Amino acid sequence: MNNAWVDGFLPIAIPPEIPVNAAGMEDTSDLPIGVFDSGVGGLTVLKALRERLPGEALIYLGDTARLPYGSKSARAVGAYALAATRRLVAMGIKALVVADNTSSAQALDILRAEFDGLPVVGVVEPGATAAAQASEGGRIVVIASESTVEAGAYPRAIHNGRAGASVVSRACPLFVAMVEEGITDGPIAEMIARHYLDPLFGGPGAGDCLLLGCTHFPALLPLLRRVLGPRVAIVDSAATTARVVEDLLARHRLKRRRPGTEPMRYLATDAPERFARVARVFVPWPIGAAEVDLVDIG
Ligand code: DGL
Repeated sequence: MNNAWVDGFLPIAIPPEIPVNAAGMEDTSDLPIGVFDSGVGGLTVLKALRERLPGEALIYLGDTARLPYGSKSARAVGAYALAATRRLVAMGIKALVVADNTSSAQALDILRAEFDGLPVVGVVEPGATAAAQASEGGRIVVIASESTVEAGAYPRAIHNGRAGASVVSRACPLFVAMVEEGITDGPIAEMIARHYLDPLFGGPGAGDCLLLGCTHFPALLPLLRRVLGPRVAIVDSAATTARVVEDLLARHRLKRRRPGTEPMRYLATDAPERFARVARVFVPWPIGAAEVDLVDIG
């Protein structure tokens, strides 16, 4: 057991489970990365993190009791995101990934201010950077939830990376409902996709890049590719976000030194059975309802 001096007087015992690094500071590098989403769609980001950082432990919290966030006000989304993050922080995490686009667009600053010292990565900036690079002519269409569109965070982030880009944003709430129902292709799905996208990708000045600004939309990729044809770049933020997280861990010296072997943990604020069922749309590995812990985050 290590001893540390408090105010130069009393030696206090530091429990062995909290290791210290060479500088005598608490070493959090073995703690898990917390991943938070409004529901199950953020598992697409979890999958990208698992692929990029296979040695890291991951805890995923889906706030399924309050889904959807995409139709809620900034005030509500901010309060929900704070509650979810408090829960993950109480469990012990070394960094937070906000997989939910709506919270990333509406609440990232609130989270960074409240959890000072905790590295927080959202999906908006990585997605915007990827789109700014992928678009040939700088004509980018962002599809997202209503609340994400209203926040205007994607156009701001795209213009930071590419000042002259033209950005059109479109809320596509039906896509979320479709994917949750497992309808990711077929005539109904195609009709809805054309309803949203045909006006944005036809005629002169049409978009040359589609940015998927919502956790659920990668599940529609084959359909979107067919509807848009091969010339439009389609960008999703999951892989780029995982790269940003890897850089951030390296910069903060938070990379796990010994690769972990513990299974991924899943938490949901409602209906673990539904979580497990809908998860099949987003990740190729099975998740049983018994693996999903029901939590109350207030
Ligand atoms: N996770 C949300 C997002 O990425 C979509 C689902 C919801 O509206 O909560 O914006």
